[in-house]
Amino acid sequence: MEIKVLGSGCSKCRSTIGVIERAAQASGVDVEIVKVENPDEIRRSGVKATPAVMIDGKLVHSGGIPSHEEVQTWLMPRPIGLLNHPTRHLFFTGKGGVGKTSLSTAAALTLADAGKKVLLVSTDAASNLDEMLGIELHNTPVPVPGAPGLSVLNINPDNAAEAYRQRVLAQMGAGASEEELSTVREQLSGACTTEIASFDEFSSLLSDGAEQYDHIVFDTAPTGHTLRLLSLPKAWTGFLAGNDRGASCLGPHSGLKMQEVRFKAALDALSDPASTTVILVTRPDKGAIAEAP
Ligand SMILES: Nc1ncnc2c1ncn2[C@@H]1O[C@H](COP(=O)(O)OP(=O)(O)O)[C@@H](O)[C@H]1O
Ligand SMILES: [Mg+2]
Repeated sequence: MEIKVLGSGCSKCRSTIGVIERAAQASGVDVEIVKVENPDEIRRSGVKATPAVMIDGKLVHSGGIPSHEEVQTWLMPRPIGLLNHPTRHLFFTGKGGVGKTSLSTAAALTLADAGKKVLLVSTDAASNLDEMLGIELHNTPVPVPGAPGLSVLNINPDNAAEAYRQRVLAQMGAGASEEELSTVREQLSGACTTEIASFDEFSSLLSDGAEQYDHIVFDTAPTGHTLRLLSLPKAWTGFLAGNDRGASCLGPHSGLKMQEVRFKAALDALSDPASTTVILVTRPDKGAIAEAP
């Protein structure tokens, strides 16, 4: 961390540097102190009284010697900047056990506390959001007690697939025989249906399925699975184009909630930096960071 101390080399300036050095050592923070003694430069910085202290171009102190406690507050980690101007969609992703659920929940609560309507979504089959919030998760939004404005939803792939099967079977109507129904149930029992049904739920949130929320915070599954979900849109284009009569894992009547327009809206939202931020959560060590992207 770079800290500028502005002053004409007076004894109070030296004492200020001493206080900063001791506080940094006590807090275990690496600081580089830059002395600014040129009067013109001090004036240009808008400083009226010296010694003055600037961090990241911001004046944090001016006139007199700061206290040890005051300096320690400057050295504390700043809150994550992404919540200053948050995009509508925030994805927290990374490996298992690194803190995705903790951070996404903290971010969602912070936004809800600021008066926003927030939907916290887990796409992790092994989600621990229920433990974190102390409530049972469902495939539909559930309000979180004690946190006005915050609702939580879990896209459980098996539940999504079951809901999908129910929609398709319902569309087949009363005219279908028991044999036809059971053939379709069989067709819709594979991994392909599960994947598509999860993706359908996921992408409808990104298009018009969650319009009442200001922010949708995703606590996502370990990286590989998330990348698969995020890359499905591309695979989908070819898939739908080559299957106008319905692929077997979609069933005879598509139960997809997602129409082409919504599907495109979801893709646009995902690729627009003004509406989506992906936050990579990792352990703070060099190996993990190098591997993370
Ligand atoms: N910044 C942190 N420092 C120390 N422990 C943490 C931190 N963030 C999370 N934890 C702990 O690490 C464990 C895993 O966190 P969790 O948020 O469930 O990770 P994930 O959702 O990525 O699997 C939990 O016991 C949690 O309390
Ligand atoms: Mg988790």
